[in-house]
Amino acid sequence: MLRIHRFLALASAIVLLLALAMVAWFYYQQAVRNLTEMSTKHNIGIDRILLNTVWDRYGSYIAEAGNLDSATLRARPETQSIDVAIRALTANMHVLKVKIYSKEGITIFSTDQPQIGEDYSNSAAFMTAAQDGQASSALSLRDRFSAFSGEVFLRDIVETYLPIFDDNQNIVGVFEVYTDVTDVKERIDQTTITMLVGLVGIFSALYGVLVFGIMRRAIAPIKLASKCAAEIGPRSSGVRLPIQGMPREIMPLIVATNGALDRLDRALDSQRQFSADAAHELLTPLAVLRAHLDTLKDKSVASALREDVDAMTDVVHQLLDLAELESRSEAMKDAEPADLHGVCAEVIATLAPLAVRDKKQLALTGSEGPIFVKGCVRMLNRAVRNLIENALAHTPSGTTVEARLNQNGEVRVIDQGKGVPPEERDAIFHRFWRGDQKNGPGAGLGLSIVKRIVESMGGEIAVDDAPGGGAVFTIHLITVEPDLNEEAVERSPDL
Ligand SMILES: Nc1ncnc2c1ncn2[C@@H]1O[C@H](COP(=O)(O)OP(=O)(O)OP(=O)(O)O)[C@@H](O)[C@H]1O
Ligand SMILES: [Mg+2]
Repeated sequence: MLRIHRFLALASAIVLLLALAMVAWFYYQQAVRNLTEMSTKHNIGIDRILLNTVWDRYGSYIAEAGNLDSATLRARPETQSIDVAIRALTANMHVLKVKIYSKEGITIFSTDQPQIGEDYSNSAAFMTAAQDGQASSALSLRDRFSAFSGEVFLRDIVETYLPIFDDNQNIVGVFEVYTDVTDVKERIDQTTITMLVGLVGIFSALYGVLVFGIMRRAIAPIKLASKCAAEIGPRSSGVRLPIQGMPREIMPLIVATNGALDRLDRALDSQRQFSADAAHELLTPLAVLRAHLDTLKDKSVASALREDVDAMTDVVHQLLDLAELESRSEAMKDAEPADLHGVCAEVIATLAPLAVRDKKQLALTGSEGPIFVKGCVRMLNRAVRNLIENALAHTPSGTTVEARLNQNGEVRVIDQGKGVPPEERDAIFHRFWRGDQKNGPGAGLGLSIVKRIVESMGGEIAVDDAPGGGAVFTIHLITVEPDLNEEAVERSPDL
């Protein structure tokens, strides 16, 4: 995931959580408002029932009682009678307390007797009822509250003030009822929490799936482009970064990179072409030089020079091989199968006169019959030929160089020379590395060419000690099904 994507995902997750918290908060506020409204209506109903009952008998007392002091109020028999009547009426309701005020705000009656005589004229809620003639209500959480039944703790209580009108519609007092709504309020709290947790859970799951999916989709073409870029090298220069599905913001970078790769390819091509042309141009003058040497009178000088010219010609051929390998390495991946046995037999036939000249033997052993491997005949021929030429160069006169074939796609070229010391076994495959033979014929290119050829065919090459002394070079190639191959080999004998 890109850092900007991560930042956006985090920021939008925070915004989403805040939005969900706000939704829950609005729900909670609305539910509490509804609860207060419903409780207000409910309380007004109770107020009216109580008022009707009490007013008939104690109306005139209530209208006058505002002038009495608290001790007198408490002592009056009406106080006890009203208390008994109200308790009887509210027996099975959630009513916690009832109060009656004079229109001046003096508490004429309260089910909580110590409050009788208290002055509430400064209470805003009382004033709304006493002066404006409007019912007013409020919901509050009380840590402790003195109710009918005694002290109660941590209660959500709705208190409602209702004006008392006489027959002439004059306000003569205010009635107040406290009801307990803790159960409903707790349910609202519970529902709000459940809703918040549920919403956060569902949205988090959806958000996770969505963000993960989108990010994966957005990042997939970039990953593909990275994979392609990792495959690009001097031998697979045709590869370009894919444009399809690439995010628009990344597209200019991809187009520019592909453009740069095009230019690099062209530069590489012209460089390869130059090496191939230069090597090729050298062949003719070398051939002419060789022809002139034949006309020299001093045969010993001619022969020494001819050896030098031959060595130079070998180097030029190796360079040409390299150039061809560079230009064909891509095509070789898809080349048709080659018969390893056929290739080895042909190389041995070609090099036999050379071996005879130097009093050495060549032998083809192991599996007989075709061994089909993934690769190109011409290039495979060069690889095997290089190995056998090296073996012939290093095996002493009178000994044999053996090419041993195995049905699993393996050929071992075994000589009886001095072998390759373990510390040189990596270096011999480097270009121009020739160990202690710097002054002898050869360019030090042969094994690097062999390795390139073998690897371009998906195979491996290794060097080891031969059992009886000498070196053994093993090429291991990928075998392919014979029935596919016969047709393929016939179709493309030169590959
Ligand atoms: N069969 C072998 N036994 C011992 N040493 C070997 C053998 N084959 C190769 N070498 C060592 O590896 C070196 C590199 O071999 P390579 O074929 O790359 O170059 P070269 O034979 O010297 O020149 P050319 O480019 O003509 O092949 C040789 O110079 C030699 O020191
Ligand atoms: Mg060689």
